[in-house]
Amino acid sequence: MRDGPVSNGARVLPPNDPRQYDDLAGEWWRPDGAFAMLHWLARARAALVPPTTRPGALLVDLGCGAGLMAPHLVGKGYRHVGVDLTRSALEQAAAHGVTALAGDVTAVPLADGCADVVAAGEVLEHVPDWRAAVGEACRLLRPGGLLVLDTLNDTVLARLIAVEVGERLPAVPRGIHDPRLFVDDRELVAECARHGVALRVRGVRPDLWGTLGWLARRTGGGAGRGARPGGPMIRPTWSTAVLYQGRGVRHG
Ligand SMILES: C[S@@+](CC[C@H](N)C(=O)[O-])C[C@H]1O[C@@H](n2cnc3c(N)ncnc32)[C@H](O)[C@@H]1O
Repeated sequence: MRDGPVSNGARVLPPNDPRQYDDLAGEWWRPDGAFAMLHWLARARAALVPPTTRPGALLVDLGCGAGLMAPHLVGKGYRHVGVDLTRSALEQAAAHGVTALAGDVTAVPLADGCADVVAAGEVLEHVPDWRAAVGEACRLLRPGGLLVLDTLNDTVLARLIAVEVGERLPAVPRGIHDPRLFVDDRELVAECARHGVALRVRGVRPDLWGTLGWLARRTGGGAGRGARPGGPMIRPTWSTAVLYQGRGVRHG
């Protein structure tokens, strides 16, 4: 298991060091770039969010990065507020219509119950105190509000697939994860319940053939010519052992 410093080009940084996002700032909106899989996950996460009929409805996107959910929320009726530590990412989120707020997801500068939807996509596994982030997510939700999230499980298989294999593929930057921060799904469900949110989880994975087609196209092979625009679909799978989504409503 690698846990030493890694380099994504510009400088050598420890795993999960947030400065990596500054070094990779030019990658966020490249559909075939180092954050490609975040695009696929953002589309799948946004699909869990229903359109709102409530005027002024607010969606708070914790750890929003460069706002990759934004195009998938168009027409659903929410004001999209994004919270993130990384200013270079927030600038890009703002350019995509997100109201950008610099802040830590463990101490969000927004009022209790302000959000109709809270999204926490691929962020909990980057936060040393993920329980504090979950507490904030639930605090922000109004009664009846919806929490949607995705994250990596705290399992040997997740370390193997997401780090040892995944970080060698072009869709995930090397050293972006510290597997010691991965989030056990049962503990997450229990923590949400403690804060009044009944979270249901399901395993997800990128579509295998879509991923192979994407890889072939990206490496210039003719076999990938039919690859799906927007990248492979994220599909439900029987096990939460690697990557999983959560969806839950806050009790009244
Ligand atoms: C893997 S990216 C996911 C970005 C976005 N949610 C997406 O799916 O495209 C993780 C993001 O979380 C942010 N982040 C990590 N720890 C954070 C914290 N404690 N508070 C706020 N943002 C944080 C990083 O700056 C980065 O933008």
